[in-house]
Amino acid sequence: MQDTRVGFGSKIGGILAAAGSAVGLGNIWRFPYETGNHGGAAFILVYLGCVLFLGLPIMVAEFSIGRSSKASTGKSFSVLAPGTQWKWVGYLGVLTGFLILGYYSVVAGWTLEYILEAGINGFANNRPEDFVVSFQSFSQNPWKPLFWLIVFLLMTHYIIVKGVKNGIEKSSKIMMPLLFIIVIVLAICSITLPNSQKGLEFLFNPDFSKLNSSVFLSALGQAFFSLSLGMGCLSTYASYFGKDAKLGNTAVSVATIDTLVAILGGVIIFPAAFSVGIQPDAGPSLIFITLPNVFQQAFSGIPILAYIFSVSFYVLLALAALTSTISMHEVSTAFLNEKYGMSRGRAAKIVTAGCIVIGVISSLSLGVMQDYTLFGKGIFDALDFVTAKIMLPLGGMLISIFVGWYLDKSRVKNEFTNYGKMKLGLFNVYIFILKYVSPLAISAIFIKELNLI
Ligand code: PHE
Repeated sequence: MQDTRVGFGSKIGGILAAAGSAVGLGNIWRFPYETGNHGGAAFILVYLGCVLFLGLPIMVAEFSIGRSSKASTGKSFSVLAPGTQWKWVGYLGVLTGFLILGYYSVVAGWTLEYILEAGINGFANNRPEDFVVSFQSFSQNPWKPLFWLIVFLLMTHYIIVKGVKNGIEKSSKIMMPLLFIIVIVLAICSITLPNSQKGLEFLFNPDFSKLNSSVFLSALGQAFFSLSLGMGCLSTYASYFGKDAKLGNTAVSVATIDTLVAILGGVIIFPAAFSVGIQPDAGPSLIFITLPNVFQQAFSGIPILAYIFSVSFYVLLALAALTSTISMHEVSTAFLNEKYGMSRGRAAKIVTAGCIVIGVISSLSLGVMQDYTLFGKGIFDALDFVTAKIMLPLGGMLISIFVGWYLDKSRVKNEFTNYGKMKLGLFNVYIFILKYVSPLAISAIFIKELNLI
């Protein structure tokens, strides 16, 4: 039965799909505003530490769970640890992915509106204050964002229904190279702007006095969010990997691509912002309010460049978001399909419908439902906080305990070495991190930042 499971057709297809999941709004929307809010380069260093010491080993752990169970995350724990409570880690992952997809699609939908606006040259004659007004009136409008949210989820749905090879893999193979080209071209344009060095300094010259206490939780949450870790998304993709996929190498490729795109995202945004004297700490609206303005001012002498830059930037965001929403959708769809025997199409319909409901609530929470709060935050912000800063790191910690302590060592070794075909290399370091470093580090950050004691 296991041999008939569908899978990615090629190694590169698997890597691009996993990188597609990782590279998303997290890199180009969330990373810049978290960096902006936490003082720039110093935050980035803490973030890099989280990626290297926690993200990479946990990614390999997720890959091992997925590939050795040949099941999506919602079922893999029941396969590897039958009859135990570990199955809840899988369910937690499905729930987390589902919730993230709900609010993430709201922002993903905004990118479509901005492609359209930029495309009809709607930014051309705006004054700086107009961007604030137009973003606020758009995001608080009860209907328009809902329309784009639904369009985005239907695009995701369409690809998911096409299946693993013809949908996920094929679309990643087209979208990811396009995305890389746009990122690189935009980054080059941005650093050639006058005064761009201020932005580069902000990104690369750490000022440790800016490290405040919330930096660690934010950097940790950002690392999990950006690498798609802690909810079994990559483990679900790994269940479609072939036997010859080298898990360690794949993890290094995915983490490197993800980190490079995040840094390049910063290179696009900060030099452009500083070049026109705009502060980088505008928060989540940074790329929707600040940037269109920046593009107009930065290229004010050459309107055609402003036009091309704006349209390509939002196309880039939409592409990045789509390869990520696909991966989150797949987690729930595969779960319903494997656990309840539903057809892929039916499972996908249920997931899409559910996400539309969550998305609509999150979107309205920015406007007409502003007064409803959860944990003292609006629903959109509460979902972002709870999923990225609590559920993902918690999931990551449990995954790391599962592979480090519970899972049979010979199985873990087999996955790490591709059934003995590769050297053991860093195996002991990997296990040490999973067993001790990540559970302790994540608990310590939780205890301190969430004031648990
Ligand atoms: N990694 C994606 C991004 O950076 C978001 C994501 C989180 C995707 C969790 C899948 C799972 O945008």
